[in-house]
Amino acid sequence: MKVVIAGGSGLIGSALSKALLEAGHEPVVLSRGAPSAGAGAQVAGPTAAAAGATATGVDPSSTTSGKGASTGVRRVAWNPASLGDWVAELAGAGAVINLAGASIGHWPWTKGRKAELLNSRLTSTRALVNAIRTLPADERPKVFLSASGTDLYEGRDATPADETTEPVDTFLGKLCVAWEAEALRAIDLGLRVVLVRTSPVIAPGAASLRIEALPFRLFVGGRLGSGKQWSSWVDVTDIVGIYLWALATDGVSGPINATAPDPRPQVDFARALGAALHRPSWFPTPAFMIRLLLGDQATLAIGSRRVWPAAALAGGYVFQRPRLEDSLANALGHGSRS
Ligand SMILES: NC(=O)c1ccc[n+]([C@@H]2O[C@H](COP(=O)([O-])OP(=O)(O)OC[C@H]3O[C@@H](n4cnc5c(N)ncnc54)[C@H](OP(=O)(O)O)[C@@H]3O)[C@@H](O)[C@H]2O)c1
Repeated sequence: MKVVIAGGSGLIGSALSKALLEAGHEPVVLSRGAPSAGAGAQVAGPTAAAAGATATGVDPSSTTSGKGASTGVRRVAWNPASLGDWVAELAGAGAVINLAGASIGHWPWTKGRKAELLNSRLTSTRALVNAIRTLPADERPKVFLSASGTDLYEGRDATPADETTEPVDTFLGKLCVAWEAEALRAIDLGLRVVLVRTSPVIAPGAASLRIEALPFRLFVGGRLGSGKQWSSWVDVTDIVGIYLWALATDGVSGPINATAPDPRPQVDFARALGAALHRPSWFPTPAFMIRLLLGDQATLAIGSRRVWPAAALAGGYVFQRPRLEDSLANALGHGSRS
């Protein structure tokens, strides 16, 4: 099956496109950084070869040119702000996966950056749905899997939050709700829509894990704030597994919490991180210091998210790395650069 992945050049998209390829599918990554048809046609000689540029704007090898691109995965240029040649890639595809959006983790969250976090997601999602609308009904993809975050459960942690838990009114909560609303418009076009509410992904080389690991590597790691806030997480194997499962399972639609069945108080998370790195976890960072440094973005470190993958478990998804210690050992194990 041809599967078009918008924003598929990043952490999740690279692992997912590799897995799709291995499963015999044809992943195609829409990337703002892929050579465009015009640019490809203009680039000549060795430079063109080095950039993998072609006259169609398609990079057939994606071996070294794209950040995080998987070998053998085609990359196609797109501009989420306008419908262009990329729309043709959606015609006849079996599914579209939407991962595009400016990185939430980048510091600092200025007013402009917050607008970009929201607008990049709304614009990309709207562009995909509008593009699908231009296709004849029999050429439309059947499934639309769209990323979202478990941030919409922040603080709703008296009991583990499942997919029926009401979203919160924070910046990230409202961002997720607006992002999902754009994706749900694809239902009217006859598509099965799945909202993949994703917890922070633990993966070898993940930027967020590198940052979290740094103080431990320097022997000054410990809990963040009180450490009582809940940390939810998902292993990269399982975020990929959940996308593949949602793609293949006709009965799956609506929100799915992509989170391991092992949320932990942050103090436990810190201890597990220290143990995986063979380092102590003795030095707490006070909440006021985190707020001083990060401002609103402190929510990523000291906000509480106690999330449960109720729909995935009820639907028969079997987690491959359900335990935090195993996930951290895999991500930070021998030979990892995280
Ligand atoms: N990884 C996590 O822990 C996590 C947790 C919760 C939710 N999510 C969500 O899941 C999605 C995929 O996550 P990821 O970790 O793979 O993200 P990622 O590594 O940051 O990749 C996202 C991709 O989006 C594209 N992008 C960046 N800025 C953009 C913009 N302004 N407009 C349109 N596209 C833009 C980039 O592709 P090009 O530069 O090639 O266009 C980038 O490779 C994201 O939307 C993220 O918010 C991830």
